[in-house]
Amino acid sequence: MQHFCYGNTHEILRCCGRISWVIQVLNEFILTQTLRMSITEKPDPKTDNAALLKWVNKMIEMCKPESVHWCDGSQAEADALFAEMIEAGMCVKLAEDKRPNSYLFRSDPRDVARVESRTFICSQNKHGAGPTNNWEEPRTMRRKLRGLFDGCMKGRTMYIIPFSMGPVGGRISQIGVEITDSPYVVVNMRIMARVGDKVLEALGNDGFFVPCLHSVGCPLQPGETGPVWPCDPENTHIVHFPEERTIVSYGSGYGGNALLGKKCFALRIASTMARDEGWMAEHMLILGVEEPSGQKSYVTAAFPSACGKTNFAMLIPPKEMEGYKITCVGDDIAWLKPGPNGKLRAINPEAGFFGVAPGTSNDTNPNAMASCSRDTIFTNVALTDDGDVWWEGMTKEAPAHLIDWKGNDWTPESDSAAAHPNSRFTAPAANCPAIDPDWEHPDGVEIKAIIFGGRRMSDVPLVFQSFNWSHGVYLGATMGSERTAAAEGTQGEMRRDPMAMLPFCGYHMGDYFRHWLRMQKVCSVIPRIFHVNWFRRGESGEWLWPGFGQNMRALRWVVDRANGRGYAKETPIGWMPHYHDIDWRGLDFPEEQWDQLMGFDRERLKMQTLQHEELFLQLFDHLPKELIFERELLISRL
Ligand code: GTP
Ligand code: SPV
Ligand code: MN
Repeated sequence: MQHFCYGNTHEILRCCGRISWVIQVLNEFILTQTLRMSITEKPDPKTDNAALLKWVNKMIEMCKPESVHWCDGSQAEADALFAEMIEAGMCVKLAEDKRPNSYLFRSDPRDVARVESRTFICSQNKHGAGPTNNWEEPRTMRRKLRGLFDGCMKGRTMYIIPFSMGPVGGRISQIGVEITDSPYVVVNMRIMARVGDKVLEALGNDGFFVPCLHSVGCPLQPGETGPVWPCDPENTHIVHFPEERTIVSYGSGYGGNALLGKKCFALRIASTMARDEGWMAEHMLILGVEEPSGQKSYVTAAFPSACGKTNFAMLIPPKEMEGYKITCVGDDIAWLKPGPNGKLRAINPEAGFFGVAPGTSNDTNPNAMASCSRDTIFTNVALTDDGDVWWEGMTKEAPAHLIDWKGNDWTPESDSAAAHPNSRFTAPAANCPAIDPDWEHPDGVEIKAIIFGGRRMSDVPLVFQSFNWSHGVYLGATMGSERTAAAEGTQGEMRRDPMAMLPFCGYHMGDYFRHWLRMQKVCSVIPRIFHVNWFRRGESGEWLWPGFGQNMRALRWVVDRANGRGYAKETPIGWMPHYHDIDWRGLDFPEEQWDQLMGFDRERLKMQTLQHEELFLQLFDHLPKELIFERELLISRL
């Protein structure tokens, strides 16, 4: 028999008659009361969830914070935290008349992006993680982490953030609790997820949650205030225990390393949950296409980091394509689950956008600009003299003077960029003018088409359709993309990034492909699969495709095809639109350029297909044979 001690008087009275218990419980009562009085501002967490309280107490014991704060998710709480952070010099409030309710943070220059080299999947067995993930034996890793976390919050406040990924209480939603010593994380999580009391209520006394432990790894000595962006880059570890469904992150305060509901939970842990339970957790945007007839279709698209998901999710169609309207459900992550009728439905587990700032402008993405026009946290962008923000690409001409992302004076003559290439805005999804009316529907929206795409300057045509599901899975599995600033590494270098999930799949990539293939059997109707590339360049390096809003022309063809309309020709790589199958109203796009954009070289493609061997060999012992067949079929078609 187990009994979790809450330390209240009722409990003591209930125990009367069992004298040894009374002594034991009394001892614990005195102990916890002294502990609580010394460390908590709010002595009564608004939960009786025994597992949660037990975990929290263990973490308090290990991390030794100066105080503990249960986040209620209120505006007053956020305001108080911002005020403290301004006072401590950690952020600046932007001009209220320019960016209401918005703040700017500058991170440590060593802590600016996800660190894939220090991200681990600690499954019991190395094969559980597969060759594309870093693995470490769980007990060894736990020992290492215990060393790092022992006393790591000394002198700091421990924040406890109950959060829901997906609408609170929804059928597809999940609950997590993040413990962190970063107030920056608290205010970001409040935008990116649903947080606070309502989540504890939904969790109840025995609900399931994913424990997410985070520390910046900078304990303070008495009287010390520490750096304005605390972090410990030498010891950064972002660790997932998929079997236990737990996350532990140490040393970084930035983005996906620290906002643990996002990549760590909603992708790495959720992908393992999804494999076990017959659904999918994907690095995908979700958008709705409304046609002139009023018909509405939802589409998801998986592009690697900084390859245009936010842009595509909020696309504004060219005005000549009258009657077409795009609505946004999500810009980064999709959870897809078969509904009662066996059709795949998707929710956006997030509540905000953590969007790439550089390149975002009123020309390229007005909806993103509107989303971050207020109530937004900016990280590593530049500060203007009138208390607003700026980044490369926001306006054609740079302001004459700025404070750059490192806090230094900057002029257009400066050698370095004013904003870091992976600088970001954290904005509430509800701020987006194109947000879909059903974006918080607890059962999600029905998905008609899935699009894969990468950043490919050559070889890959603008748009084509797979012959069937397994060919589509093959297209996703063999996706390649040039590296971006969203993670450490050499930018521009080509790498395989299956389904844009290489850094985010919580288990063996070969098993992940098998799960994709299996989904066809789980669903009554399966979405059509497409491939796009907005980033093809000509011989002199110029973009062959205008991109952004013009991507609507490819999207219209996708939606027509997914609804069993629209024309296409069969080619060795899939179904492709003819020039005249595209809606060209309002765009003068010469047919010769189209041929260049859509062309592929059979010999080069054959070579590249053989290069897929590299990834396939790496995964060989878990690779579904269907993918080998698909490759053989492709080679013979070529
Ligand atoms: P993550 O948040 O890292 O997952 O990135 P994302 O996939 O949401 O990328 P995002 O939409 O923020 O785009 C990243 C960069 O690609 C920005 O600088 C955009 O301006 C640029 N971009 C987006 N769409 C297009 C396009 O259609 N054509 C071109 N040339 N660039 C684009
Ligand atoms: C990505 O890198 O794909 C992102 C940003 O969306 S982060 O949350 O930092 O992972
Ligand atoms: Mn992303």
